[in-house]
Amino acid sequence: MYLHLPLILYLVASALPSHASLFSRGSDHLLHGIGSAHRHAVKRSSGLAHDLRRALSGILVEQADSGTQHVYCVIDPDQAMNTSLTGNGGTKASGTTSASASSATSTAASSPWKLKQEYQGNSFFDGWTFFTASDPTDGTVQYVDQSTATSTNLTSINGAGNAIMRVDTTPKVSGNRPSVRITTNYTYTEALVVLDASHMPTGCGTWPAFWSNGPNWPAGGEIDIVEGVNTYTNNQATIHTNPGCSIPSANSSVLGITGTVVGGTNCAAAETGNQGCGVRSTSNTSFGAGFNGIGGGVYAMQWEDSGISVYFFPRSSIPSDITAGAPQPSGWGAPMADWPATDCSPSKFFYDHSAIFDTTLCGQWAGNVWNDTGVPGQSESCAQITGTSSCSEYVQNNGAAFAEAYWEVLSVKIYQTS
Ligand SMILES: *[C@@H]1O[C@H](CO)[C@@H](O)[C@H](O)[C@H]1NC(C)=O
Ligand SMILES: *[C@@H]1O[C@H](CO)[C@@H](O)[C@H](O)[C@H]1NC(C)=O
Ligand SMILES: *[C@@H]1O[C@H](CO)[C@@H](O)[C@H](O)[C@H]1NC(C)=O
Ligand SMILES: *[C@@H]1O[C@H](CO)[C@@H](O)[C@H](O)[C@H]1NC(C)=O
Ligand SMILES: *[C@@H]1O[C@H](CO)[C@@H](O)[C@H](O)[C@H]1NC(C)=O
Ligand SMILES: *[C@@H]1O[C@H](CO)[C@@H](O)[C@H](O)[C@H]1NC(C)=O
Repeated sequence: MYLHLPLILYLVASALPSHASLFSRGSDHLLHGIGSAHRHAVKRSSGLAHDLRRALSGILVEQADSGTQHVYCVIDPDQAMNTSLTGNGGTKASGTTSASASSATSTAASSPWKLKQEYQGNSFFDGWTFFTASDPTDGTVQYVDQSTATSTNLTSINGAGNAIMRVDTTPKVSGNRPSVRITTNYTYTEALVVLDASHMPTGCGTWPAFWSNGPNWPAGGEIDIVEGVNTYTNNQATIHTNPGCSIPSANSSVLGITGTVVGGTNCAAAETGNQGCGVRSTSNTSFGAGFNGIGGGVYAMQWEDSGISVYFFPRSSIPSDITAGAPQPSGWGAPMADWPATDCSPSKFFYDHSAIFDTTLCGQWAGNVWNDTGVPGQSESCAQITGTSSCSEYVQNNGAAFAEAYWEVLSVKIYQTS
């Protein structure tokens, strides 16, 4: 399963001598005229992406000029090549667990999942590491450290007790616009991760994600739970792995999912120019302004021996077992996305994940599709909407436009079976 990693390393080293360790999210392009076909590129360099397409596959098709969708997964140099950020976790994150922790305890008999970590309330930001390196996805963004985030009010706990992660709204910046990216110190192998959010960043130039990855990417795997760009209203969940992992079909009814497969069925980064197995929600309240308009809801990612699934529940239909802190996924119905173990054994392709929130700006997805339309929520391109031909110029000169570029998170809970 590691056979292709040296090839990738070689290509990265050849194409990017000064960034040899900067693996990044692959891009995944919805090809003009090919409907749901996807292509990925290592986002540090389109030249590199081109090399990878040539080197790795005769099945890959050149990226189209328009109607192109890019889907990425971020890999940091520190996380790809150096596991120091993942830490060993194990500390209880929250000091304010009383309500849901006690209800979890009282009803735990009916749920296989036990609460291991909880991030909410005044202690939400305990147990996360603030990432401060330059954005691996080439964004017009500067991730700041925790004390800067606190003092400049990019992170805060609001009156409702919810965690806020904002993008800077200074009218004009000359370089990158400040934002935050945080990674759990806690790491997990198999888990049920439950995000309850009432708002997520949206608007032209934004590219928010709630996701996770393991060490030695892509060996440890990557699971993108919530992700999209610009004015998209439909979430996309994606996995990226070592060779040997695929999804058994591109047909939603065969898979038993409510979403739509928008990528290929081979999830291996090295065999597809970092194409992932992406699934787009059919709900236009699952992301961006649509999500915010209904007060958000709950995302749950279940990772167990039998496979990995992602569920989305709008605020008005969150299952009571989730609210009670005793989640029972078997009663939730069809997931939005599912990658069954039959074709991708989680125990082989995923380990030691940390959960991550970030909001980047422009870069290799939001920036690259600046002129594009055709994805739900993007009936007009951002170039048309903003009247600006460059994403980064827009981001630098229109701070007020980022007032909606914030996460409001009620909680993140990580459950495990033992
Ligand atoms: C990982 O990074 C840390 C901090 O940047 C450094 O101290 C450590 O030596 C690195 N480890 C490896 C294996 O490169
Ligand atoms: C999480 O890790 C950071 C360093 O990366 C450390 O400063 C912080 O104290 C850790 N938090 C907890 C709760 O262990
Ligand atoms: C900090 O941000 C919060 C949430 O965005 C906002 O409600 C509050 O007014 C801000 N505080 C200051 C001092 O700007
Ligand atoms: C998907 O699978 C269902 C059930 O097997 C089948 O009826 C349907 O025709 C398939 N759709 C496509 C587009 O192949
Ligand atoms: C979602 O789709 C419905 C039906 O097409 C439409 O009426 C509604 O405006 C859309 N909502 C958003 C947020 O795009
Ligand atoms: C968008 O279109 C403008 C004007 O044609 C062009 O200068 C720019 O390079 C395009 N941007 C992208 C990301 O394709």
